Amino acid sequence: MKKILVIGATSGIGRRLAEMYAARSEVRVGVMGRREELLQEFAERHPGSVASACDLAGPEAELACALEDMEARLGGIDCLVLAAGTGCVNPALDHALERPALLTNVVGWTCIADWAMRYFRSRGRGHLAVITSVGGLRGQGGAAAYSASKAFQINYVEGMRCWAHQQAPAVCITEIRPGFVDTDMARGEGLFWVAPLEKACRQILKALDEERDLVYVSRRWRWVAAVWKRLPTGLLKRMKVG
Ligand SMILES: NC(=O)c1ccc[n+]([C@@H]2O[C@H](COP(=O)([O-])OP(=O)(O)OC[C@H]3O[C@@H](n4cnc5c(N)ncnc54)[C@H](OP(=O)(O)O)[C@@H]3O)[C@@H](O)[C@H]2O)c1
Repeated sequence: MKKILVIGATSGIGRRLAEMYAARSEVRVGVMGRREELLQEFAERHPGSVASACDLAGPEAELACALEDMEARLGGIDCLVLAAGTGCVNPALDHALERPALLTNVVGWTCIADWAMRYFRSRGRGHLAVITSVGGLRGQGGAAAYSASKAFQINYVEGMRCWAHQQAPAVCITEIRPGFVDTDMARGEGLFWVAPLEKACRQILKALDEERDLVYVSRRWRWVAAVWKRLPTGLLKRMKVG
């Protein structure tokens, strides 16, 4: 039986992916996130699944313990889907508002990604899937910490690919790079091409089944990304993004 762990499974993309996996008879699902009551509800609805709370913004030693415990209860992990993430618009550059994105998307995220890669190397195989963002391709004046944290993730994934090529060639990494998806996170003005959650998760699941390296969600965002990456900074400064 294939064991899949979804971190950030209490809502949005992570939650829907966990449900889709749980509907497959050959898969056993582990779910992690902060809101314990939602994780318990998932476990009750999907017998055989394993739920455990964790806080990516909390102490890293606790995070590592929670992963070890989940691995033992699940009976191993074949694929770890790291969907947890946070961020908010912060036009005032209030540092207190930036901290959760930095702690969750950078510090906690790296702790989990490192743990997963070392774990898969020790097993000789495995699949890590992470959700970055098209927003990580350039800095955003209205959400500087969020876009920078996603840029960190995109570069870290590239670093992990190089590491895996040398040290764990059978370990696969899928980077999921969404534009906008209709979840709690995508609220506000100026959003466009917002993909319905169901459609986005179907595309993500297909990419994970095919063990793709990189997938834009929805697919049309790869064209936006191609232009976005090359946009002159002078033009970017005049745009109101984030
Ligand atoms: N929706 C979009 O338009 C969009 C676009 C680009 C990228 N993304 C990325 O997609 C991923 C999923 O986001 P979503 O759209 O599904 O939003 P969401 O519905 O808000 O889900 C975010 C998930 O992350 C978890 N999480 C947040 N902070 C956490 C922490 N400190 N510790 C543990 N879990 C934490 C949340 O669980 P708890 O609240 O229970 O902790 C929740 O399960 C994120 O990485 C996001 O950056 C989303």
